[in-house]
Amino acid sequence: MYVLGIETSCDETGIAVYDSNTRQVEHELYSQVKIHAQYGGVVPELASRDHVTKILPLIQALLKKTKLSLADISGVAYTAGPGLVGALLVGAATAHSLAWGLDIPVAAVHHMEGHLLAPFLDSENLDYPFIALLVSGGHTLLVEVSAFGCYQILGETLDDAAGEAFDKVAKMLELGYPGGPAISQLAERGNADRFRFPRPMTDRPGLAFSFSGLKTYSINTIKAEGIAAKADIARAFQDAVVDTLAIKCTRALKMTGLTRLVVAGGVSANVSLRHKLTRLMASMGGEVFFPKAEFCTDNGAMIAYAGYLRLQIGQRESLPFQVRPRWPLDSL
Ligand code: KG4
Ligand code: ZN
Repeated sequence: MYVLGIETSCDETGIAVYDSNTRQVEHELYSQVKIHAQYGGVVPELASRDHVTKILPLIQALLKKTKLSLADISGVAYTAGPGLVGALLVGAATAHSLAWGLDIPVAAVHHMEGHLLAPFLDSENLDYPFIALLVSGGHTLLVEVSAFGCYQILGETLDDAAGEAFDKVAKMLELGYPGGPAISQLAERGNADRFRFPRPMTDRPGLAFSFSGLKTYSINTIKAEGIAAKADIARAFQDAVVDTLAIKCTRALKMTGLTRLVVAGGVSANVSLRHKLTRLMASMGGEVFFPKAEFCTDNGAMIAYAGYLRLQIGQRESLPFQVRPRWPLDSL
């Protein structure tokens, strides 16, 4: 069956078709980065309005590319939350209209479940149970995943998300928005020995995260050392985030006795994080799984795939539809 996936939770309009027979996915993505860059972050109302203008042309472009017609689609999936309410409503309204018009079922997908399942799109030998580290612009979660849909949250951030910290430090370093890729690039040229930033909350037991202190520490260093130290600060900041995430993953794996680690969400695109966790899992005799680069950040493919699995277990959304700007992953 072909499932159409629609992602509009933030600043990317993502559309995909998942083919359950071939297990292949095709997708189209429109990023609003240019619109929001001048404001240094996502402006919700501009995001909603832009989704409205892009969503139907993207669906048409994808159908053309895949040589499919709407009549070939047997199910629709959309991101119902968490995210920006206006942006979510655009995807939800489009999904329900299509499903109603075509008389096919529609599934509401949790955005973070989409991220969490994204590595399954490419990894043949990934299986349950595993620990998932979900690191995006809005969330930092360590999750024990015992089966599809069975999520126990082991730790989350008390303040800023990892991606949010990248974005805020990048803004101070005058690197623009989004900050993750820019910091990562700059850090490659940075001297790792010049500064050592704190690894927050690693000196006490537990799996909670906190990145706001590290953000403040970085901002104070920028003020003290000046923007000329930019690359070294980017390096020190990135090393601190990566180390902190690795320490908490190690704890979660040891605590649960699990040997598989899934890392997903926008920050999982970070090359330094990927290297560190790959080395870590090799040293622990375990395995690590990442989505392919284009499915780390927001996309429609992960929503089409998660929606397919939700439809398979009989999940159906009925009218009137609703979106859930706040939606705990462990309530699924
Ligand atoms: O998953 P995502 O696309 O959107 C949310 O669901 O939030 O994640 C976006 C976040 C942004 O904060 C961005 O700076 C970060 O992911 N990001 C990165 C990298 N690429 C994207 N952070 C660090 N290194 C990267 N290469
Ligand atoms: Zn996301």
